[in-house]
Amino acid sequence: MDDSTPETVRTRASCPCRLVRTTSDPRSVIFCDPCDTPPAAVLQLRPRMLDPFQIDPDISRAWTLPALYYSDPAIFVREKETIFRRAWQVVGHHSQVAGPGDYFTTELHGEPLLVVRDRELRGYYNICRHRAGPPAEGCGTRKLFRCGYHGWTYGLDGKLISAPEVEGVQEFHPEDFSLLPVRAEEWFHFVFVNLDPRARGLVESLGELPQQAGRFDFAGLKFFTRRVYDMRCNWKTYIDNYLEGYHLPSVHPGLNRELDYNAYTVEPHARYIRQFSPIRGAQPGDSAPRRYQEARADLTTDYFWVFPNWMLNCYPDNLQLNIVLPLAPERTLAVFEWYLLEKDLQSPAALASVEFSDQVQKEDIAICETVQKNLRSRSYSRGRYSLKQEKGVHAFHRMYAEAMQEK
Ligand code: FES
Ligand SMILES: [Fe+2]
Repeated sequence: MDDSTPETVRTRASCPCRLVRTTSDPRSVIFCDPCDTPPAAVLQLRPRMLDPFQIDPDISRAWTLPALYYSDPAIFVREKETIFRRAWQVVGHHSQVAGPGDYFTTELHGEPLLVVRDRELRGYYNICRHRAGPPAEGCGTRKLFRCGYHGWTYGLDGKLISAPEVEGVQEFHPEDFSLLPVRAEEWFHFVFVNLDPRARGLVESLGELPQQAGRFDFAGLKFFTRRVYDMRCNWKTYIDNYLEGYHLPSVHPGLNRELDYNAYTVEPHARYIRQFSPIRGAQPGDSAPRRYQEARADLTTDYFWVFPNWMLNCYPDNLQLNIVLPLAPERTLAVFEWYLLEKDLQSPAALASVEFSDQVQKEDIAICETVQKNLRSRSYSRGRYSLKQEKGVHAFHRMYAEAMQEK
C-alpha cells in the first residue's frame, strides 16, 4: 500500500498520526479520535504559525486570523483589556442627557457607568467610594446623587458632598473620595465613553468619517426602535461577515436585489472602513416594487464600521446604528437602533424598513453561527482573502493584530 497516494485508505498501524482515511481534498481529512495531530496534508496548508499577530500587509500573501482566536477564553480576556477598554464606545443618545442634571446609568464591558450633563457632559464609574454601592440607578434628572447603600451624596461634578456619620474617621478627606471619572464625549447625536484616560479625543480618533457621513442630512432624525440579537458566535465572526459584500448573492438575495453588487466598494481607513454601493433604483421588468425607485449617482448606501465594534449604516432617508457587544468567547449581542425623519415615524414604510433589516440580520446570524461552529473543526486553521471582495476583512484583521500587540 502506498501511503503517499492521497486516495489511499490507511490502516491505523501504518498511519504515523493515526489518520484513518484521507482523500485528495484535504478538507475531508478524517482524524482518528482522540488524535489531535493534523496530518501532513493539513500541515502543509498552514501558514507559519510562529506569530499569529502578523497579518501580511499584502492581501495576496496574507492568511486570515487563526481559528483559535474566535473561541479561546484567554484571547477573549486579552481583547477586553487591550482593545475594548481603550476604545470609544457608544453608550447612549444625546436626548438622554439633553438638559442640566439629565443622567443615565449603563454597563460597559462589565463596568457600571454613570453619564450626566453637568455644565458639560461627564462620565463616572457608577461605584460609590465608600463600599462600592450604586450612586445612581436608572435614568432621569438630578441635582445630586445619593448612594443607595448608606446615603453618601455626590454632586453632578462627582465631588463627595456629604458622608453621614463618618465623624471621628481619621485622615478622611472628602476631596479624595470623588467619583472616579471616565471620558465622555458626543458626536452625531450619540454619547460615547472611553475607559482609557490616555485615549485620543473621539472626533480625532474618527479621522475622515465625520466628513464622509456629513453628506447625509441626519440633523432631524428621531429614534424609532431598537432590536437586540443574541448570537452564538464570536464578535469577530460577526464583524468579518459585516465587512464584505462577497456573501450578498448567496446569503442575502433580497438585499442583493437592491444594491449594485458589482459596484460595491470597500474603502479601508486607519481605524474604520467605509463600504458603499449605489442604489439600483427601479429596473425594467421589476415584478415587485423596490424600496428606492430612484437611481442617482449621489444616492448610495454607506456602511461605516469603526474599530472595533460599532457601525453606522446610512441610507438616503434613515440611519441605523449597530453595536456589537462581546459577552463571551462564543456569544455576542448585536444592538440595532433605527433613526428616522420625524415625518416618517408613523409611516408603514418605517416598519417595512425595520423588517427588511431584520430579515437581513437573521440571514447573517444563521451563517455566522454556522461558521462559528465550523471554526472549531480540527480540519480548519486559517483561510485566504479574496483580493476583490475581502479588503475590509483583511484591514480589520490587520487593525486587530496591531491592537492586540499594544502594551
Ligand atoms: S456604599 Fe455608598 S454609601 Fe456606603
Ligand atoms: Fe450580511
